Amino acid sequence: MCGIVGYLGEKNTKEILLSGLKELEYRGYDSAGIAVLQNGTFHNFKAVGKLINLEEKTKDFVTSGFAMGIGHTRWATHGKPTELNAHPHLGEFSYVVHNGIIENYAELKKELQAGGTAFLSQTDTEVIVHQFEKNQKTAKNSFEAFAKTIKELHGAYAILLVTKGEAETIFFAKHGSPLLIGVNEANEKYFASSDTPLIGHCTNVSYLEDGDYGYVTPQEIALFDKNGIKKEAKFVTLSQNKILAQKEGYRFFMEKEIYEQGSVISDTLMGRVTENEILFDELDASLFDGISEIKLCACGTSYHSAMSASYLFERYSKIKTSIEVASEFRYREPIMTKDTLFVAISQSGETADTLETLKMAKAAGLKTLVICNVDNSSMVRLADASILTRAGIEKGVASTKAFATQITVFWMLSLYVAKIKGSLAQEQIASHIATLREVPSHVKVSDEMHERIKRLSKRYLHGHGFFFIGRDIFYPLALEGALKLKEISYLHAEGYPAGEMKHGPIALADPELFTIALLPKHLHYEKAKSNVEELSARDSTICAISQIPFDKADDFIEISPCDHYMLEFFEMMVALQLLSLEISIRLGNDVDMPRNLAKSVTVE
Ligand code: M6R
Repeated sequence: MCGIVGYLGEKNTKEILLSGLKELEYRGYDSAGIAVLQNGTFHNFKAVGKLINLEEKTKDFVTSGFAMGIGHTRWATHGKPTELNAHPHLGEFSYVVHNGIIENYAELKKELQAGGTAFLSQTDTEVIVHQFEKNQKTAKNSFEAFAKTIKELHGAYAILLVTKGEAETIFFAKHGSPLLIGVNEANEKYFASSDTPLIGHCTNVSYLEDGDYGYVTPQEIALFDKNGIKKEAKFVTLSQNKILAQKEGYRFFMEKEIYEQGSVISDTLMGRVTENEILFDELDASLFDGISEIKLCACGTSYHSAMSASYLFERYSKIKTSIEVASEFRYREPIMTKDTLFVAISQSGETADTLETLKMAKAAGLKTLVICNVDNSSMVRLADASILTRAGIEKGVASTKAFATQITVFWMLSLYVAKIKGSLAQEQIASHIATLREVPSHVKVSDEMHERIKRLSKRYLHGHGFFFIGRDIFYPLALEGALKLKEISYLHAEGYPAGEMKHGPIALADPELFTIALLPKHLHYEKAKSNVEELSARDSTICAISQIPFDKADDFIEISPCDHYMLEFFEMMVALQLLSLEISIRLGNDVDMPRNLAKSVTVE
């Protein structure tokens, strides 16, 4: 996830910017940069990789006395993690840093290029600085040019912009991405995309609202709302606890990551869905030429998303799909044919088993695709093509938002392939896209749902095990629910296809066997319901998750009304994540760092 800092004052500007960026490291990034305007001259430094590289590049640069500067850590979305793509981006005499995505950047870029503007980067951000400089030519002053520019941008942004002619002014805007202004008694002005860089420097902060924009100078904070009406910045006292600030008020990173799912899924969709088409700039449709099978390979949670994807590919793209556990695939001398597209799925892009299978597929001459959350990871570098899931850094060992974005990508990809194969009519694709756009609102955690799960979690701290059951694509979701619970509660849990219980596992049924039943209204409801009734008749304790009340259940988690089974999938995913989280918290476990587990498994 990208991070922003800004500073205007008399202190050591370079150090303040670098230490601010350091505080944002926990969010993940792959390049960083700063621009400082001092005594009428701009100094700009960028580096790929860790901040230490940027520190090295700036070691001979000294700031003293009044200066202002902006800094950024970039998590690549549009374009590779290179120095040219790193922020701040330069126009002729201005610099900009930006978090979020400018959705209409392609149109703006085209117009600017037609007017003779040369672009250096592949980013969406660079249009902001060029558009500003274009507007400056006709505006009364720089602020008018900035305000006009902001109105021309569509999408999500937190922006800081500095320009040579205004040596004591930082322009800012916020819409959909967080941005704070910090102040202190020394009358310095600070900016950051979250609290942490401001701790120790500022006493008070103002959390900007969507649509806010304006400028700061040593004497003034000029703030305007989305309608251009001037308003007072509201300041609150800044808490000085860093770890709490990183968790943004949540008890654990996992909890924060569950709550973030709406916004990261919006990022996953951003720029990739039009009204009736899925666009993957990073893919060439020829990747699917001559392909008659898709083979998906992964470990753990990523394997569950692969399994979910197999239902979508066969159902919508009408393409034969197989799934493989990477650690098994490696050693079973599999037959690989060149009409198969090999797809590796990995949050980290570094999992040793999955990486090895990717090498095997390449060696066998297969076309390869990686679905990954980390640009420039080993798998992304190796594969013929890659799609980034854009979940931002995931700190909790138990994967949540990475899974959610993988499923979103797979749903999109199944439609993309359906278009190529002609397996869905245009109206069907358009209707899916309309539903896809609803996903962010269906993963939003409601207080009511969280409270309910918190309360009922106390009944599930003992017993001799859990069965998570579901049918169709709700079977991999059941597997994922069971894995989440195992990982952080250390209770025994298994995922099963609901229809399979009667073939053996039902022998375990008694009141101390807890069954978490996924009952989607829009996919095989009656079939799954009768499987649950069989368990209920044998006195298993049932917790049903559904939008339809179920009288045979001991506990019931009601999801919001949905008119598509995939929306029910996402709603239930959140309920399962919260259930594991609350059980684990009640058991007093370390939710974010469960015993025996590592975030990235780079050994066999
Ligand atoms: O980084 P990857 O997606 O390749 O990781 C695969 C698994 O190790 C990972 O999903 C693991 O199962 C998580 N802890 C699940 O929460």
